[in-house]
Amino acid sequence: MDSVTSTAESKKAADIATARETISITDNRTGKSYEIPITHGTIRAMDLRQIEVDANDFGMMSYDPAFNNTASCISRVSYIDGDKGILRYRGYPIEELAEKSTYLETAYLLLNGALPTETQLKDWTWHVSHHTFVHESIKKFLDGFHYDAHPMGMMISTIAALSTFYHDAKDILNPESRQKQTLRLIGKMPTIAAFAYRHTLGMPFVYPDNDLSYPGNFLNMLFRTTEARYRPNPTLERALDVLFILHADHEQNCSANVIRGVGSSHVDPYSAAAIAALYGPLHGGANEEVVRMLHEIGSVQKVPEFIKRVKAGEVKLMGFGHRIYKNYDPRARIIKRVAYEVFELMGKNPLLEIALECERIALEDEYFVKRKLYPNVDFYTGLIYQSMGFPMTMFPVLFAMPRTSGWLSQWQEMLLDPEQKIARPRQIYLGHDTRSYIPMEKRS
Ligand code: CMC
Repeated sequence: MDSVTSTAESKKAADIATARETISITDNRTGKSYEIPITHGTIRAMDLRQIEVDANDFGMMSYDPAFNNTASCISRVSYIDGDKGILRYRGYPIEELAEKSTYLETAYLLLNGALPTETQLKDWTWHVSHHTFVHESIKKFLDGFHYDAHPMGMMISTIAALSTFYHDAKDILNPESRQKQTLRLIGKMPTIAAFAYRHTLGMPFVYPDNDLSYPGNFLNMLFRTTEARYRPNPTLERALDVLFILHADHEQNCSANVIRGVGSSHVDPYSAAAIAALYGPLHGGANEEVVRMLHEIGSVQKVPEFIKRVKAGEVKLMGFGHRIYKNYDPRARIIKRVAYEVFELMGKNPLLEIALECERIALEDEYFVKRKLYPNVDFYTGLIYQSMGFPMTMFPVLFAMPRTSGWLSQWQEMLLDPEQKIARPRQIYLGHDTRSYIPMEKRS
C-alpha cells in the first residue's frame, strides 16, 4: 500500500469514527440549521416539526402519498429485501418454510415469533381444528346472497358479521381474548370460504372434518359430494399448503396496513376490514385478473400485440410489478415449481404457454427491464387454482384465507407497540378558504 492511499484510508477511518448518526438540515427560508438523529437509516417525521418559519407556523411535515418512502411501524414479523428478491418470516427464508413447514406451523411462527415444539404444534392444531365450525345462522346469512355473488363479497361481509356473534372480541387488550379470536379466524376462514363456494353452486354445505389436515379439510368442504369420507389427493393437499405458506404474510402490504390502521381504533379484528383491501385487483384480486388477461390474450401469437398495448399504457400486465420487489418475487419462483407438480397430475393448463411467453418477452423488453417489473406471486397462482378446479372468483379467497395469520400477527404487534396510536395521517389542504353560504336561488 503506498503512503498516499494509506493516508486517505486512515482519514476515511477517522471520519467514520467521528461520524454522527445525524442529518443536518438548513432551512433556507430562515437560515436556521437543525441536527436530526438517524436511527435504522430513518429520521422521525416528528423531528421535522421543530422546523418552522415563526412561532405561528405549524412546523414542517413530510408528504408521502401512498407511503412510497415512509415506515409506518417497527416490525419483527416478516422481512423483504426487494432488490435481492428475499422474503423471510421471523428470519426463516420462505424457500425453507415452503419446503419443510406446513401452513399451520408457519401461522404459529408468524403469530408467536418462534417455531413450535412438537407439543405446541399439536396443541395449536387441535385448537384451530376445534374452531372450524360456524354458527348455524351464518348459513342462513350466506343463503341471503344471490347465486352469482362474488365469494370475496360474501367473505368480507361474513367475516365482519362474526363480530356480532363474538362480543368478547371487543376486549382487544386482553391476550386471552386475542388468542380466542385468532383461533376462531384461522379456524373458520376455510369453512366460510368453502360455504361461499358451495352457495354459488347451489350445493349443500359440507361440515369440517377434524381428522383431515388444514388444507385437506378445506378441499373436503369444497369438493365432497356423495362419498362417505373425503380423501384429499396428497399432491393437491400439499400444493395448497405450500401456496398457503407463501401467502401467509408480506410485511406492510396494503391489507396489513389496513388491519393496522382500522385496528388502531381498537375495533374488534373481525371488523378490521383487511380482507376488503385484499379484494382489489392491484392486491389479492390480481390472481383472478391474470387469468382473465390470459384468456383475453387468447394465444401465444397474440402476446406481442398485448405487450404493445401494455407499453402504450392502455392495459397493465397483471401479475407483474411490485412496490417492494425490484427483482423476481421469490414466491413466484416457488409457485412456478408447484404449478408443474399440479399440472403433472391434472394436465397442463392451456394458458401456461401464454403466461410463459408473456414472462419471456417482458423479462427481455426495455420497458419492463427499465422499470424492474418481474412476475409477482399472483402471476402463476391462478393457473394452479384453475387446474385444481377452482373457479376464478375463488382465487382471491385462496389468497385471503392464509393471509389471516399475517394480518393477525400485524394486528397484535400494532396493539402491543407502545409507540402506536390511532392511525391518523395529516393532509395538505389546498381547498377553498372560508366562503359564505350561497342561497339556492343565487347559485348558478
Ligand atoms: N404492467 C405495466 N406497467 C406497470 C405494471 C404492470 N403490471 N406495474 C407497474 N408498471 C409501471 C407503471 O406504469 C410505472 O410506469 P411509469 O414509471 O412509466 O409511470 C412503473 O411501472 C412503476 O409502477 P407504479 O405503479 O409506480 O408501482 P407501484 O409500486 O405503485 O405499484 C403494483 C405496484 C403491484 C400495484 C403495480 O405493479 C401493479 O399494478 N401491478 C399489477 C397488479 C398486480 O399484479 N398486483 C399484485 C401485486 S403482488 C401481490 C399483492 O401484493 O397482493
